[in-house]
Amino acid sequence: MFVSDLLAGKRYLITGGGSGLGKGMAARICQLGGRVAICGRREAVLQETADELNAEFGDRVAWHPLDIRDPQAVERVVDAVWAEQPLDGLINNAAGNFLARTETLSHRAMDAVVNIVLHGTAYMTLACGKKWIADERPGNVLSIVTTYAWTGSAYVVPSAMGKAAVLAMTRSLAVEWGPKGVRLNAIAPGPFPTQGAWERLVPTQKLADVWEKRNPLGRTGKHEELMNLVAYLLSEQSAYINGEVVTMDGGEWLAGAGQFNFASMLSDDDWDEISGKKS
Ligand code: HXC
Repeated sequence: MFVSDLLAGKRYLITGGGSGLGKGMAARICQLGGRVAICGRREAVLQETADELNAEFGDRVAWHPLDIRDPQAVERVVDAVWAEQPLDGLINNAAGNFLARTETLSHRAMDAVVNIVLHGTAYMTLACGKKWIADERPGNVLSIVTTYAWTGSAYVVPSAMGKAAVLAMTRSLAVEWGPKGVRLNAIAPGPFPTQGAWERLVPTQKLADVWEKRNPLGRTGKHEELMNLVAYLLSEQSAYINGEVVTMDGGEWLAGAGQFNFASMLSDDDWDEISGKKS
C-alpha cells in the first residue's frame, strides 16, 4: 500500500520522538525515505534512539533536547532545526498524563499536564507555523489527541482538557492557515500499549484486563497500524484532508457511547425471548 519513497526528501519534527509511539513514527518515516528531527526531555533516550535509527536507515535522524513547556527553548530548537533543513511537517506527539482522582490534584499537578499537552503543543505549532508562513512553504501539522478530547474522561481530567484544546486548535488553524498552505489534522488513537503510557495509565492488572474485553475488536492496537495512518496523513496522498481527526481505536469509544450497547450482555436465549421465538 505504501511505496518505499512515499516521504522521500521530506523532513518532520516529532515531539516526544525518543520513545514509545513517537519513536515508532520516526522509524516509519525513515523507512519511507523521509528524515526526522526528534525532541524530548531526556537527552540519553534521544541519542540512543537516533543512533539506533541512523544505524538502520543511514543518517536520517537529528535530535534536540527540549522541554516543550519552555517557549524560549521551543523557539531556539525550531530555529536550529530549520537551519539544518526546513521542515515539511510537525508531529505533536509529546504528552503528559497520569491516572488520579481529580479532587486529589494540586495546581502543580494540573499545570504539569496542561503545560505539556496544551501550551507545549501550541508553542510548537506557532513556532513552525510562523516559519512556514514567512517562508511561503507548505506545512503539515499532525497532533496526537485521544477520543476523550470530545467525550471527556474521568480520572484523566487535565489530559482531557488539554487534548480538547489541541483538537480546537487543529480545527481553528485548519481554516485560518489552510489558505497559507499549512494544513492541520489529528489522530485519536485508542489503546496502543507503550511502556511510558501504560506505567502511568494502566498500572494494575485489573485495569489491563479490561482494555481488550471492552473493545469491539477484542484487542489493543498494533503499532504498525497507527504508523501507517501517520504516514498517510503526512504524505501528499492525503493533501485534501484538513481540520480532521481520525480515530483508530477498534470502535472503543463508540462502544462506551451507544445507549443500547449494554445489550451485548444478553444471551441467545434472552434474544429468543425478546423476539418471541421462545414461549
Ligand atoms: C497525582 C501527580 C502524579 C500522580 C505527578 N503528580 N504525578 N499527582 N497523581 N500520578 C503531581 C506531583 O505530585 C506534582 O505536584 C506535580 O504533579 C508535578 O510533578 P512532577 O513529577 O514534578 O512533574 P514533571 O516531572 O514535570 O512530570 C510531568 C508528568 C509526568 C506529566 C507528571 O507524568 C510526565 O513527565 N509524563 C510524560 C510522559 C507521559 O505522561 N506519557 C503518557 C502520555 S499518554 P506537587 O503539588 O506534589 O508539587 C497520553 C494518551 C492518553 O496522554 C490515551 C491513552 C489511551
